Amino acid sequence: MESIVDTSDEWIFERTGIRERRIAPPEMTAAAMGAGAARMAMERAGVAPEDVDILIVSTATPDRLLPATSCDIQALIGATNAVAFDVVGACTGFLYALTVAEGYISTGRGEIALVIATEKLSAIVDWEDRSTCVLFGDGSGAAIVRSSAGEKGILGTHHQSDGRLANLLYRPAGGAAIPMDEEVLRNRTHLIQMSGREVFKHAVRAMADSAGQALARSGWALDDVDLVFPHQANIRIIKATARYAGLPMEKVFVNVHRYGNMSSATIPVAMDEAIEEGRLQPGMKLLLVAFGAGLTWGAMAVRW
Ligand SMILES: CC(C)(COP(=O)(O)OP(=O)(O)OC[C@H]1O[C@@H](n2cnc3c(N)ncnc32)[C@H](O)[C@@H]1OP(=O)(O)O)[C@@H](O)C(=O)NCCC(=O)NCCS
Repeated sequence: MESIVDTSDEWIFERTGIRERRIAPPEMTAAAMGAGAARMAMERAGVAPEDVDILIVSTATPDRLLPATSCDIQALIGATNAVAFDVVGACTGFLYALTVAEGYISTGRGEIALVIATEKLSAIVDWEDRSTCVLFGDGSGAAIVRSSAGEKGILGTHHQSDGRLANLLYRPAGGAAIPMDEEVLRNRTHLIQMSGREVFKHAVRAMADSAGQALARSGWALDDVDLVFPHQANIRIIKATARYAGLPMEKVFVNVHRYGNMSSATIPVAMDEAIEEGRLQPGMKLLLVAFGAGLTWGAMAVRW
C-alpha cells in the first residue's frame, strides 16, 4: 500500500486494525468467487445444485450491471431449478439476503436457499485515494438456508436504512443517472467515495441499536449471546460498537486484520473461520450485526 499511495503500514493498522487484504486477479470475477463459495457450502450441507430453489446473491460489485450476478453464478454451478436474483444492501447485504431467504422458506415458496455474498471491492476502489483504498479487500462466502425443527434458526431480526445519508458512501457516477463517459473516467467519479468520519459515527450507533432490537425480538438478554459476528470494516468500529452495545470483546469474532472490509462477505467468511477454528459450536446463540452504504444496517439473532 505504501508503494501505491502516501500512507504507512503503521497508520493503516492503528486506524483500522487491517494488516492484510486479499485482491482477486483480473480474471477472477465476483461470480467466479461466489460460485467457489457456493460449491463449498453445498458440499458441506449435502445439497446438490439442482436441489436449490432460491439463489440470492448479495453484492456491491456486480460483474455487469445487467443481468444479475446471481444468474451468472446459477449458470456456473448448475443450479438450474432455482430462481436467482441479487440483493443490493452493500455491507449489510448478507443479512438482508438471509432475511429474504427466510421469508421464501417460511412462506412455503421453496425449501432450500443458497445465499451468497461475493465482493470484488478492488474493482471499484479508487487506488489513488488513500482514505479509502487501504480499507477494502475481495472475498466471498455462502450459506445454505433451510427450515429446521426445534429451536435452531433465525430467531430475531432488525433491519433499517436511511437513504438521506446515501452520499456518505457511494459511487456517484456510472449508473443510469450519470452514465459512464470520458468526464466520469477523468474525474474518477465511478469509483467509491466516502466521508469516513461520518460513516464511522453512524455505524457505531446504528449497529449497537440494531443489536439491542434484534435481541429484544428474540427474547434474549445480552448475557445470553455466546458469539458476535460484526461486519468487519474496522477494528475501532467493532470495539466501539461492542462497548456501546454492552458486549464484551471476548465474545466478538474478529478477522478484519487478515481481510480488510470485504463488504457483505465479511460475516459469512468470519462464520466459516469460526467453524474451522472450532469456536462456533452447535446450539450457540449468535448475534450477527452489520452496517453499510445506503445507509443500511441490521442485526440478527441466530441459534446455530
Ligand atoms: C477511514 C478512517 C479509517 C479514517 O480514520 P480517521 O481517524 O477518521 O481519520 P481522518 O479521516 O480524520 O483523517 C486523519 C488524517 O489522516 C489522513 N489519512 C487518511 N487516510 C490515510 C492513509 N491511508 N494514510 C495516511 N494518512 C491518511 C487524512 O488525510 C487526515 O489528514 P489531515 O489531518 O492532515 O487532514 C475512519 O474514519 C473509518 O474507519 N471510517 C469508517 C469507514 C468504513 O469503515 N467504511 C465502510 C463502512 S461499511
